Amino acid sequence: MFVHNSADAAAFRDSLHTAGKRLVFTSGCFDVLHAGHVRYLAQARALGDALIVALNSDSSVSALKGPSRPVNSEADRAEILLGLKSVDAVIVFGEPRTTELIRQIRPHLFAKGGDYTPETLDAQERHALEQIGAEIHILPAVPGRSTTATLGRLAYPESPEATAPAAAKPVRRPRLGVLGSGEGTNFGVILKAIEAGTLNAEVALVLSDNFHAPILDRAKVKGIPSTWVDPGEHPNRFSLKAQQEASRRFQEADCDLIVCAGFMRRLKDPVLTDFAGRIVNVHPSLLPAFPGRSAWVQAFEAGVEEAGCTVHLIDAGIDTGPILAQSRVPVLPTDTADTLRQRIQAAEYQLFPAAIQDLLLRLPPR
Ligand code: GAR
Repeated sequence: MFVHNSADAAAFRDSLHTAGKRLVFTSGCFDVLHAGHVRYLAQARALGDALIVALNSDSSVSALKGPSRPVNSEADRAEILLGLKSVDAVIVFGEPRTTELIRQIRPHLFAKGGDYTPETLDAQERHALEQIGAEIHILPAVPGRSTTATLGRLAYPESPEATAPAAAKPVRRPRLGVLGSGEGTNFGVILKAIEAGTLNAEVALVLSDNFHAPILDRAKVKGIPSTWVDPGEHPNRFSLKAQQEASRRFQEADCDLIVCAGFMRRLKDPVLTDFAGRIVNVHPSLLPAFPGRSAWVQAFEAGVEEAGCTVHLIDAGIDTGPILAQSRVPVLPTDTADTLRQRIQAAEYQLFPAAIQDLLLRLPPR
């Protein structure tokens, strides 16, 4: 059943409730349907007695995944979903979150895919779910079955994986060179996305300007080549020698894309020229607001109502390159700069791997 508005969806929920049955709610883009979706939806449906899917509208898919998406229109995506045995109802929504829909429909159960944890669910959605007393279920992701893996096979038709079954190993996956100065939690999330099959890439090399950076240890634990690059004398700059060494090492490692995951020095030539349009960064603010260091503190002290994070290409400026994706994070009355930073980072963990995947699909071969 295609549900045209939230009042009809709420009426559907009430009719089930009266019959002693329970409605499961889930949401998503379901842009290119694959076996992972089919299994996920079947598991979600099995939690209760009927399943309603809140489907991101075309404009919200573009906002989330980039201008090349959706591949299929919302009308087609709804029709395809409704062809599945597990899906009882579909409602299209255009807001960034399903918070209002949850409040209006009041489902008994809420299901989300395994790339989330209860902690990384959107705070407002979780609050709404708690208010209506819905059970929250995080269902495991299906390894190797993902929209990005599917699109990756389409984007690299010359690779054997295009003709082989989905589980076959790709011959050459896009190679990432990672730069980081600190903890490397974003790097950890990138590795998890690769393991889960939601990011079709491999990390070829990790470089750090900080000899003691935990990001280097994270790479070592995973057996990924990693090394310290002497940044030179200046506390904030990356010397010409360091820029040359980084570029040479990334080229020797045959990297397609450089990923700055908490790299706190400015890249210049020859890196910028050697990897033009191929250096991506995550920054903890809604650029162009608050470029530079400790952006979350800048936002907090400025008293903004909304903060967030940005994924962008790097150019010669400080956090000025073309914006690829952004995620908004409300500043709560109870926030400190630290709690705000934690929620911004949780948003980064969702945004960054997805934006990298989207960019890789659009990058021409090197
Ligand atoms: C991230 O929050 C990232 O946005 C920020 O450094 C942090 C690194 O954390 N980057 C910048 O401020 C770049 N201007 P991580 O090392 O745990 O991923």
